[in-house]
Amino acid sequence: MSLRILFIGDIVGKSGRAALARHLPDLRRRWALDFVVVNGENAAGGFGITEAICEDFFGHGADCITLGNHAFDQREALVFIERQPRLIRPANYPQGTPGRGANLFETQSGARVLVVNLMGRIFMDPLDDPFASAEREISACPLGAGCDAAIIDMHAETTSEKYAMGHFLDGRASLVVGTHTHAPTADAQIFPGGTAYQSDAGMTGDYDSVIGMNKNEPLVRFTRRISSARFEPAEGEATLCGVAIETGSDGLARKISMVRTGGRLQECLPDFWENG
Ligand SMILES: [Fe+2]
Ligand SMILES: [Fe+2]
Repeated sequence: MSLRILFIGDIVGKSGRAALARHLPDLRRRWALDFVVVNGENAAGGFGITEAICEDFFGHGADCITLGNHAFDQREALVFIERQPRLIRPANYPQGTPGRGANLFETQSGARVLVVNLMGRIFMDPLDDPFASAEREISACPLGAGCDAAIIDMHAETTSEKYAMGHFLDGRASLVVGTHTHAPTADAQIFPGGTAYQSDAGMTGDYDSVIGMNKNEPLVRFTRRISSARFEPAEGEATLCGVAIETGSDGLARKISMVRTGGRLQECLPDFWENG
């Protein structure tokens, strides 16, 4: 069984949500996608996600929404995440945190897809060990035996921690993709063991900004060290950013491509689906 999977990076604010609504239904059809994961940690005004936004994303064609350090910025998420199994937060939050850090999904064709959300610890909140969490989730549901594809969203600041996670899971996951830094990296590849990898998917937001936020306030804070206003998402047209993979019958990756469409960044679409 071969699966076509699209992962979309952090949706930032209204312009990010508009880009998802504009592009995802079309991409889902055009590329005959089996499974779509969207990182939604910045969807509500840049900070967290609401239940209504979750429902919109599922309506546009997302199968699973992942989160990160902004998971619970909207307090309602602490409650509705318990009744929304398609919304997951980092698995290495302390025991007792609402929601779940991984879930197993079934595609329309009956394939089982494991999604795990993890958060790095370098320059971030001191959570539990993400490598131990990854080990626990992957060994509970191994590729080939427990699932037909495994997707890991490694929400982290440093590229080194993301690469380490990619190699740690090489041969045991279909895709390890980074989120959180809000700029796409040009290192999409398939590791020797068959795991697809990209250090950061990039945000789905307005790139005429400071990582998705209106650039005025960040510039004030960088130059004067004094805050003068709240951070607000930039409102220009967003670029939808992500990574596309196709798996083989063993659940490992056969193809990978960066995805960028709309807005200011140079377009990049998977040749193997556009022309095949
Ligand atoms: Fe983010
Ligand atoms: Fe983040």
